[in-house]
Amino acid sequence: MIAEQTVHEIQEHLDIIEVIGGYISLKKAGRNFKALCPFHPEKSPSFMVYPQKQFFICYGCHAGGDLISFVMRFEHLEFPEAVRILAEKAGVPVPQAAADRPAVHPDLYRAHEVAARYYHELLVKSAEGERARAYLKGRGVDPAAWEVFSLGYAPDRWDGLLTLGQQEDLTPQILEKAGLAIPREGGSGWYDRFRSRVIFPIWDGRGRVIAFGGRVLEDAAGPKYMNSPETELYVKGRVLYGLHLAAPQIRERDFCIVVEGYMDLVSPYQHGIRNVVASMGTSLTIDQVKLIRRHTKNVVMVYDGDYAGEMATLRGLDLFLEAEMRVKVAGLPGGLDPDSMIKSQGVQAFIRAIQESQDLFDYKLGLLKKRFDPKQLEGRIQICQEMLPTIKRVPSPIQRGEYVKRLSELAGVDEALLWSELKRVKLDAPWRPAAMEEAHPRAAMTAEDLLAGLLLERPDRLVQLEGRLDPQDLQDLQVRRLVTWLMEGEMTNRFPRGSEEWESRIARWLAHADAIAVEEKERALDEVLQRIKENQRRAYMEGLKGSIRRAEEAGDEAKTTELVLEYNRFMKTGTAATRQLEG
Ligand code: CTP
Ligand code: MN
Repeated sequence: MIAEQTVHEIQEHLDIIEVIGGYISLKKAGRNFKALCPFHPEKSPSFMVYPQKQFFICYGCHAGGDLISFVMRFEHLEFPEAVRILAEKAGVPVPQAAADRPAVHPDLYRAHEVAARYYHELLVKSAEGERARAYLKGRGVDPAAWEVFSLGYAPDRWDGLLTLGQQEDLTPQILEKAGLAIPREGGSGWYDRFRSRVIFPIWDGRGRVIAFGGRVLEDAAGPKYMNSPETELYVKGRVLYGLHLAAPQIRERDFCIVVEGYMDLVSPYQHGIRNVVASMGTSLTIDQVKLIRRHTKNVVMVYDGDYAGEMATLRGLDLFLEAEMRVKVAGLPGGLDPDSMIKSQGVQAFIRAIQESQDLFDYKLGLLKKRFDPKQLEGRIQICQEMLPTIKRVPSPIQRGEYVKRLSELAGVDEALLWSELKRVKLDAPWRPAAMEEAHPRAAMTAEDLLAGLLLERPDRLVQLEGRLDPQDLQDLQVRRLVTWLMEGEMTNRFPRGSEEWESRIARWLAHADAIAVEEKERALDEVLQRIKENQRRAYMEGLKGSIRRAEEAGDEAKTTELVLEYNRFMKTGTAATRQLEG
């Protein structure tokens, strides 16, 4: 963890105007500054920096945060790195050990380095590596790519790496912790995890090796791929294969091609297509989506042309949509993946597939039409039901409207009916609910939002809440957290910088507070408190009514009486006897 002290000192020594002004050109606008937003394309400035608050907000794309968040976003850095850069600028020392977030054992990285070098040298130089060299050449992977991808060969031995470990001062315990050695059953000794496989090192965003994937040579038995287990360094769903190699190209071309497998990345790379990352298997995660989103908002998914690939593509589409990204799909003909397609039909065919990638709507519809019969009413209803949640995730209201229209024409269902169905669609666990509110920002502003804004703007307003608000009374989980942090004086420590969900909410909260005239602000806070209490009162009474009904239905007279009495008492006094409504 970065010490809170360091963050404080940075904030003390650096001014947000100076820092942001060092990256983009700011224009004075009253007491504040404005600029063209560096995080989304625009023609007139909606990016504001507030020196009093030491905060920036973009009213166009809802980016927002403090100077550290700005540097993280602008430079595509993680929190510790951004802090390090700013600390340097501010002349504030960062304790070296504290500079990296989790304190992982440095030998874990070293173990991976040593192993990667070992496997690579065996591939390139050793006699036993000849099988692997022949195998890779047979698959069209040339020696230049062996270097770029640091490919390797794990020999057909039980203790190759373990023995090397002895010389390199890497204990079997460390190798086990790194996922590279496995303890023998019965408890005496260890053996190498990777044996007789072609090795693909897996890197983190900074290009450090944190895991391996090993592929059997064609004629060998066993599972096709064996990967490192999850370790302190490697959490499967948080890594994208090849991202650190692809990042510059992804930014330059402003789109990212997402494939499944190692070879689906190596093959296009050899043909000069380098804005590619691999999910390493079919199930893409939100964390992986967020990794891509730091570099571009445009994605083309090119998964294997089989059933698993299609299903995974559908799930991926929804993830990208929820992240407010633009996503298209290049469907590959039966059974092919990018590697095999390039091999059998040439790279031009692959490039064409990318160029002709379909809008997500058409792609999903195409799949659904294969599965459900659009000639039958039943089938059309099912198609609609499958399409609606995806449409609901589309961030642009205009685009959404268009999709509803097209679906209505296709299914022969009234458009108004689809709209009302769309309203009723509940999305499971949207990670960014704000996306759904875009069309009605006002309606979405609640008393709790305003409270958050007023407190963020001036945390000293907290005194006015004393004895009047228990954070537990807040319905909105994020507002509740924020208020708790502020009350505990833990804001700088706990605020999840780099979380886009938080940053966009904070930007909104501040915008709400900003929209209120200064002389109204004190009164606004009182009103907000009243509204929160009122909401709570109403919720409590509704809850009581429900409990009374249930007690009645259950024929529990004693309970009914007790609850009715509580209801009457509450109406008079306004204080609840108990928070536990259910019994
Ligand atoms: N994968 C895995 N473990 C497996 C199978 C697959 O980790 N047992 C991951 C690998 O990252 C693999 C990707 O899923 O690259 C795609 O799997 P698949 O399409 O089955 O493999 P290919 O990459 O096409 O394999 P290859 O081209 O080497 O035959
Ligand atoms: Mn494949």
